[in-house]
Amino acid sequence: MVPPAASVSTFEDSSALMHAAAEKIVTVATEALSARKRFTWALSGGSTPHQLFSLLAGVPYAGRIDWDRVHFFWGDERCVPSEHPESNYRMATETLLSAIHPPAGNVHRMPGEAEPSAGAARYEATLRRAFFDTFGAVTERGLPRFDLVLLGMGTDGHTASLFPGTAASAETNRWVMPVRVDQPVPHRLTLTFPVINAAAHVLFVVSGADKADSVRETLAQQRATDTEPSLPAARVRPVRGQLAWFLDAKAAARLHG
Ligand code: 6PG
Repeated sequence: MVPPAASVSTFEDSSALMHAAAEKIVTVATEALSARKRFTWALSGGSTPHQLFSLLAGVPYAGRIDWDRVHFFWGDERCVPSEHPESNYRMATETLLSAIHPPAGNVHRMPGEAEPSAGAARYEATLRRAFFDTFGAVTERGLPRFDLVLLGMGTDGHTASLFPGTAASAETNRWVMPVRVDQPVPHRLTLTFPVINAAAHVLFVVSGADKADSVRETLAQQRATDTEPSLPAARVRPVRGQLAWFLDAKAAARLHG
């Protein structure tokens, strides 16, 4: 049985998936803007969000969000300069931010150019200033509470830059960690599970047949609340928040039988 706060939605193809995800983001943003006059959003990286961010930058979605009141953060970043082709910030800028021109003070970039440990500490200070001093959006456990954390998932079950077997994926206190992983860009910064699980909404957007096995295994582990998950994405269980999985049919292909 999927935990009450989780839901799994499947869409016929990647285009339908991205339109549904855009609608979901507009809905969550509208709710946050109406209740708190701001929308705090941690963006995911990788390739999946390209199409989603491009959709949000255009008609009809762009006109449905008051972008001047949106605060952009990142769930993870590669430790490269912001203009580097592998930068998640660069990808979001090219697909979304350059079209909607948010106030510069509302774009809270992870400092990928910094030495990783220093960058993690700097971003933790950024979160503290924003969520404690400016927004007052803090959970009863003293954690920053994002309105939305957008996540992808790798074929190994990683999410953000929380990879299987890493110290960062086991971290229970720090909010931002430097990681070194066996990926084309090995050094990264990532939010940790305490922060992800403090969010009001967490949305996974996963597309493609190559993810089908890890989707099946992750959801099975996420539901088995009596055992410690081995896959990082299965550790996403918002404490007081809504978890939604948006999948295309190819990524969901192993969920039934
Ligand atoms: C990153 C992402 C990462 C991504 C998955 C899926 O910085 O790469 O945050 O967690 O969501 O690796 O990547 P794709 O969307 O490219 O399959």
